[in-house]
Amino acid sequence: MRFTENFIQEVVDRTDIEELIGRYTELKRSGSNLMGRCPFHSEKTPSFSVSPTKKMFFCFGCHAGGSAITFVQKAENLDFPDAVEYLATRAGIPLPKESEAAVPNAGPSRRRVMEMNLEAAKYFRSCLFDPQIGAAGMRYFHEERGLSIATVKHFGLGFAPDGFGGLTNHMRRLGYTEDELIAACLCGRSQKTGRAYDYFRNRVMFPIIDPAGNIVAFGGRVLDDSKPKYLNSSDTAAFKKSKHLFALNFAKNGCAEKMILCEGYMDVIALHAAGFEYAVATLGTAITADHARVFSKYTKKVIISYDSDEAGQNAANKAMRMLGEVGIDVRVLKLNGAKDPDEFIRKFGADRFRQTLEQSRTGFDHKAEQVYARYDLSIGADKIKASNEICTLIASYWSAVEREVYLAQASARLELPLAVLKNSVEQLRGKQARAYAAKQSRDAVATVKNFGDRINPDAAKDPRAASAEETVIGLLLLMDEHREAVAKGSVALSEEDFVTPFNRRVFAAVMRLHEQRGSVPYELLGMEFSPDEIGRIERAEVMRRQLSQNGADVFGSAVETLKDAKKKEALQTGNLSDRLAYLREKNAKLHKGKAEKHED
Ligand code: GTP
Ligand code: MN
Repeated sequence: MRFTENFIQEVVDRTDIEELIGRYTELKRSGSNLMGRCPFHSEKTPSFSVSPTKKMFFCFGCHAGGSAITFVQKAENLDFPDAVEYLATRAGIPLPKESEAAVPNAGPSRRRVMEMNLEAAKYFRSCLFDPQIGAAGMRYFHEERGLSIATVKHFGLGFAPDGFGGLTNHMRRLGYTEDELIAACLCGRSQKTGRAYDYFRNRVMFPIIDPAGNIVAFGGRVLDDSKPKYLNSSDTAAFKKSKHLFALNFAKNGCAEKMILCEGYMDVIALHAAGFEYAVATLGTAITADHARVFSKYTKKVIISYDSDEAGQNAANKAMRMLGEVGIDVRVLKLNGAKDPDEFIRKFGADRFRQTLEQSRTGFDHKAEQVYARYDLSIGADKIKASNEICTLIASYWSAVEREVYLAQASARLELPLAVLKNSVEQLRGKQARAYAAKQSRDAVATVKNFGDRINPDAAKDPRAASAEETVIGLLLLMDEHREAVAKGSVALSEEDFVTPFNRRVFAAVMRLHEQRGSVPYELLGMEFSPDEIGRIERAEVMRRQLSQNGADVFGSAVETLKDAKKKEALQTGNLSDRLAYLREKNAKLHKGKAEKHED
């Protein structure tokens, strides 16, 4: 959905940014601002500031910044319209009707896709419960997978019959177009005829429901050994597989203490049916940083219960890292005698699973066991290698208490004196700290030189001009009188004067908003710039605040520098007479400067 500028401004006006951001990080008052630890990068001392009056945030460490909308975009990984919708709903502002806001030919909205999914889920469900059409699907769930009818109903499971037109025809009768069905990933398009056909065929169906109760996507499993075993919806306006979790709609209610993360739909369903209603799964992908953030919103502790094979255990290592990074207490379950939680419960029952759950290992134990399993500790050479790896692992923990605990464990297990291991851990920590410091200073240098600048890659070509551009933009944002001077033409500055395309775009947008509204609200810049770009624009402003005293001089000379750089650029490509004109002008300026000095 595209919103009007007025609607966007109302949403921002009615959002309490202090309360919004305060849910993600603790904020303390500091002058007219609030300070806290940045939710977007890890830091020990607070460099993240929120200005309730300006309704903006800015991090002096990582330069994330912008309006409440930018914040939600970054924190919840939403695109601009979804972030606006999220804040509007939160502030109790009714959304404009589709017809008022819809853009022609933009494809179905998120709402429309969810509406189609709901109809499709009803269709799949009625197929499953139809004795003629759904017998094979019901037999599969009930007999082969041991699910009760209550469980089938609870999860809204269904069956997509074989054939190419069942769902397509049903949905068209309900008024959905082929294009809409294809955009919702319920239909594919035939290469030969160009017509739509059912995407899911002869599969049992698992609807994926978000915490608000919307059906956002489907997974479908074959009934036999054919391939692919599972077929999942691709990303649509309503679904992003890198952030949704299966069964979070149920798990969200009882998961404050802990959640179980497994690999598959069937694992989750078996766990819920056995009373572990705080289990979820990712959807045919490895866990992402977005998933980790979702977990951190709902729970303190995650117990990873992946398949017991090597692939599953390695995936668990990755999940551990991702979840650890957002501050979750992570445990790992090793199931013996079964390949996954579903099989484990079917073989040994819920009570045994509960017991294993209580014995879940910390991340350290899990990784250490993987090290010990590779070596024969009765052989000297192996023992040395193992102790080196264990010390490296221990050194990676920030908390001294944790290191102390793990050192004691390792000392007992390796039968080596604690002091020896401790010494080696401290040495490794020294090395790690030095490597970290070196990397920090390399990064700082690279930033200064604009190397690897993703947001404005052209800045590296002419850092001086790029910095002058940022000064110009920063001062334009800070002071209306500069914008007014440019708008009226008393300062001659136009898009062509900008050397880097990024800053040229920023300048154009700033001046357009100034002409239309007399101000430059960041939330409206957010319509055309990404959250990272918004942070860069705000940096230009924040870094020039101390300049506003002698702003006029600085502004004038930055404009001058910019024009000069532009001329120099033209010179490198231009013809001889242009070059001579430039040199003459420059000479004249130099003489004028000297003459003025003599007059003093
Ligand atoms: P069952 O055989 O039904 O018990 O499945 P499982 O959950 O034990 O399956 P497996 O461990 O093979 O897969 C775990 C999860 O990975 C599934 O739930 C799917 O989400 C995903 N997955 C498995 N096979 C495929 C596939 O062929 N394609 C895609 N996209 N995802 C798959
Ligand atoms: Mn399984």
